Amino acid sequence: MHHDLANPASNRCPFRLRNHHVYREPLTGKLRLAPALAGASRRPRPVLEPHVKIRILGSAAGGGFPQWNCNCANCDGVRKGTIDAVPRTQSSIAISENSIDWVLVNASPDILAQIRANPVLQPARAIRDSGICAVLLMDAQIDHVTGLLMLRERASPLPLYATRQVLAELSQSLPLTRVLGHYCGIEAHALGIDGAALTIPPLVTTTFMPVPLASKAPPYSARRDDPHPGDNIGLAICSTASGRRLFYAPGLGQLTPPVEAAMRDADVLLVDGTCWSDDEMITLGLSHKSARMMGHLAQSGPGGMIEVLDRMPAARKILIHINNSNPILREDAPERAVLAAHGIEVAADGMELAL
Ligand code: MLT
Ligand code: MN
Ligand code: ZN
Repeated sequence: MHHDLANPASNRCPFRLRNHHVYREPLTGKLRLAPALAGASRRPRPVLEPHVKIRILGSAAGGGFPQWNCNCANCDGVRKGTIDAVPRTQSSIAISENSIDWVLVNASPDILAQIRANPVLQPARAIRDSGICAVLLMDAQIDHVTGLLMLRERASPLPLYATRQVLAELSQSLPLTRVLGHYCGIEAHALGIDGAALTIPPLVTTTFMPVPLASKAPPYSARRDDPHPGDNIGLAICSTASGRRLFYAPGLGQLTPPVEAAMRDADVLLVDGTCWSDDEMITLGLSHKSARMMGHLAQSGPGGMIEVLDRMPAARKILIHINNSNPILREDAPERAVLAAHGIEVAADGMELAL
């Protein structure tokens, strides 16, 4: 799918990058000239259509759908083909400007299946090659980081972007970066949470702005009960060419002022769709934890995600990181009709967005 977005409040991306030309009028052809270059140079250099593409590789929460050991009505039903639902892998997205070089946001345990399902991630330019040019991590949760181990056959160190807290977690409590040091190695880049946006090479017209989330370090962390800003981030992803912006937060428990602001600024919201109701996992006998206790804002009820999304101007509002217990996984569920009435979509693996 390829969607053009029409949020009247768009074209307000505040970032200007010093080292390349920024232009933002509507695009028509596949190849076009950057206006300033066309005027300034005798041999104008064609530039590729600068749409930022976002590919949803995985749309399920930790465990995936169906979860290997789960026999809830959803997991059992999708396994047997008796419900109107499609399987989903664990949450991860990839971002590209040219459909060749992709920044992976979160490395899911399902990464190898996701690469197989998305041949565009294998541009085949050399005998050993990958379209994954860098990985950005939003937290150190198992479902977002363990796929890193599957990238160990790389021929060069893997560019890895994460906050200092997440990088510390991955060199201490769950020392994946130390382990990978014996394979491809890691080129670590610390993400700041001061509101500055960064670019990730070789992408040039996409900026990534981390937004600190009020949440916790993972259950395995030595600092689980000592939360720090930077344990979890949301991401404002902006196309400097179109000025359009997406806010991505697969885990969102609390609407702090920075999160509220980033959500208001977004043309596309891709946010926490873990649970429909706060006590869903408890009621189904799957867990003793509420959604809130796990750092997830449920969709229904007062102060829930539906209410939050109702007050946002975004042109598209999409739920991702959907837990296998969530009734919205069934296309024909009444809860899906409720979402539709609020203009809210449910992400599926393979969905593509453009900014
Ligand atoms: C979460 O987001 O709460 C995690 O997916 C939990 C997990 O990794 O199982
Ligand atoms: Mn998760
Ligand atoms: Zn289940």
